[in-house]
Amino acid sequence: MTSRTSDPPADKPHIDACRRCELWRDATQGVPGEGPRRARVMVVGEQPGDKEDLQGAPFVGPAGHLLDEALRRAGLARESVFMTNAVKHFKFEMRGKRRLHKTPGQREVEACSYWLEREIHDVNPEIIVVLGATAAKAVLGEKRVTLASLMDQAVEHDGRIVIATYHPSFVLRQRDDTSREAAFERIVKSLRQAVRAAARHTG
Ligand code: URA
Repeated sequence: MTSRTSDPPADKPHIDACRRCELWRDATQGVPGEGPRRARVMVVGEQPGDKEDLQGAPFVGPAGHLLDEALRRAGLARESVFMTNAVKHFKFEMRGKRRLHKTPGQREVEACSYWLEREIHDVNPEIIVVLGATAAKAVLGEKRVTLASLMDQAVEHDGRIVIATYHPSFVLRQRDDTSREAAFERIVKSLRQAVRAAARHTG
């Protein structure tokens, strides 16, 4: 059986016990990354959404379904990828009875880097695909970097290849089919780039 990193050994702290920032207060639970212990490709999103917060697993809501489709189109099995987020607790504001996503602040991203760095260290992926600016900043440790400046290139960082692309939520926010399709295709293209990079690493 493949060993997975979502359950830490008893001697390791769990994300639910984290008090490094205040986001734990309103969230249902912390959402750790999920996937094979030695995945070659890691995908990093921003933070859990409403569904992820309730289920305790990353990318199980609408953005996750879109990402699944993009992975499928790129020929990457979800089960082979380690999926995680820059921030492990859901940040939201109430609008009536709905919990609306709020972008995590730099302080929260920095506080959560402890967990992300641990996942990167433990899984040791060769390729990291970052979805959106928050994930790019978190992985590269550069708070001023923009997504636009990273798109369509593979950047080497700490001995790994980092590929930046749109967040699937960006696709969902597009107003018309043409823009939605174009943004989705960019994600597929980046994931294909990750597949090629992984193949090159294999030699
Ligand atoms: N958006 C993210 O960035 N991560 C998730 O896990 C779900 C939605």
